[in-house]
Amino acid sequence: MTLRVWRQNGPREDGRLVEYSLAEVSEDTSFLEMLDLLNEQLINGGDEAIAFDHDCREGICGMCSLTIDGVPHGPERATTVCQLHMRKFKDGDTIVIEPFRAVAFPVIRDLVVDRSAFDGIIQAAGFITARTGSAPDGNALPIPKPVAEHAMDAAACIGCGACVAACKNASAMLFVSAKAAHLNLLPQGRAEKDARVLRMVRTMDDSGFGNCTNFGECAAVCPKEISLDFIAKLNRDYAVSSVKEIFFNQ
Ligand code: SF4
Ligand code: FES
Repeated sequence: MTLRVWRQNGPREDGRLVEYSLAEVSEDTSFLEMLDLLNEQLINGGDEAIAFDHDCREGICGMCSLTIDGVPHGPERATTVCQLHMRKFKDGDTIVIEPFRAVAFPVIRDLVVDRSAFDGIIQAAGFITARTGSAPDGNALPIPKPVAEHAMDAAACIGCGACVAACKNASAMLFVSAKAAHLNLLPQGRAEKDARVLRMVRTMDDSGFGNCTNFGECAAVCPKEISLDFIAKLNRDYAVSSVKEIFFNQ
């Protein structure tokens, strides 16, 4: 393979694409294992290893964050980069590997970006403050099955940030809408719904993310197939919460 990899020594340094060759990559190798092999080659040759984020390597933690040939998480639909395998590429391919790009996700080093702006949005209101105590009886709080499943679909968001990297406005609406919806849909989260929606959206706006203009690139690259319907729900909830704020809180 020929690999053109973004190398950048630090947040304030200029970065550039550097070309490397890697031989004998098995098609059963995962994309991150392929980078491990490249790093081994670099270290053995006395060079600096390429920094990249990863943790679970099984598609659930949201840490891996590479843009491959211009697509966040690469060419396989509904798949995190840690679950992508080299069989998706052809022998002799040239692959361009870059970090997720967005103003709100500054590059720390090479392929690692700072996604703490997402943490700020969750810290603003992505939680419930009610004491829930120990696990309640299954039937104590009836929740219709379709509602529970809808909330579960939203909760599948792993906070990877691919939606932001794919959006030409670097909007975080898909992430925020999923994180707000999975709490707002359930009775435990409903009491603080209005305050949650206002705080999360305003923190998102203050963190340097752009506006949603309904292009849908976010949903196209989302490894968990979070639906654009959640953005529509967030827009509706935000409008309702804003009106309530004007009439009841001021
Ligand atoms: S909505 Fe999808 S792409 Fe965006 S952070 Fe969540 S899992 Fe990642
Ligand atoms: S490393 Fe955890 S989702 Fe990819």
